[in-house]
Amino acid sequence: MHVYGASRIAATCSTGKLEFLRKLGVDFPIDYTKENFEELSEKFDLVYDTVGEAERALKAVKEGGKAVTIVPPGVPPAIFFVLTSKGSILDKLRPFFENGKVKPILDPLTPVPFSQVVQAFSYLQTAKATGKVVVYPIP
Ligand SMILES: NC(=O)c1ccc[n+]([C@@H]2O[C@H](COP(=O)([O-])OP(=O)(O)OC[C@H]3O[C@@H](n4cnc5c(N)ncnc54)[C@H](OP(=O)(O)O)[C@@H]3O)[C@@H](O)[C@H]2O)c1
Repeated sequence: MHVYGASRIAATCSTGKLEFLRKLGVDFPIDYTKENFEELSEKFDLVYDTVGEAERALKAVKEGGKAVTIVPPGVPPAIFFVLTSKGSILDKLRPFFENGKVKPILDPLTPVPFSQVVQAFSYLQTAKATGKVVVYPIP
């Protein structure tokens, strides 16, 4: 939102995380267990799909807008995007982390010792994590 200058943010989550999204600054939290975001009358300039439902994302995009998915294979014209963390991107993000406008969200299980990396992945697969699970220290 702050990085790309978006004026209004909608985001999906299950019922128990609606308040969490509001606290993060989401203007329009959508409970995906109760509403189909692509059926809302409001359409969006950019839809970022983290679920692997690019067809639904495309239906929620305004004319001239874009859908980006991070879950392969993606459905054209949705763009499949692989996240990277090279230095130039981290440099661009640094001021937002430093002034607190972008907050990394780490699951309370974090940090997980390397010896429990398998359990950490199993936990992620339960879809119950809130944010990232960081394995530390890396040997
Ligand atoms: N291409 C890449 O570079 C890249 C990088 C990282 C991850 N990935 C992939 O991206 C996917 C998401 O990873 P993540 O770490 O972002 O997961 P995440 O933190 O769990 O985020 C997924 C979000 O989508 C919500 N959601 C779940 N089911 C939904 C549905 N049916 N409709 C709408 N919203 C729904 C979840 O809400 P609740 O938590 O309330 O269910 C959660 O807010 C994974 O498949 C991962 O492998 C790809």
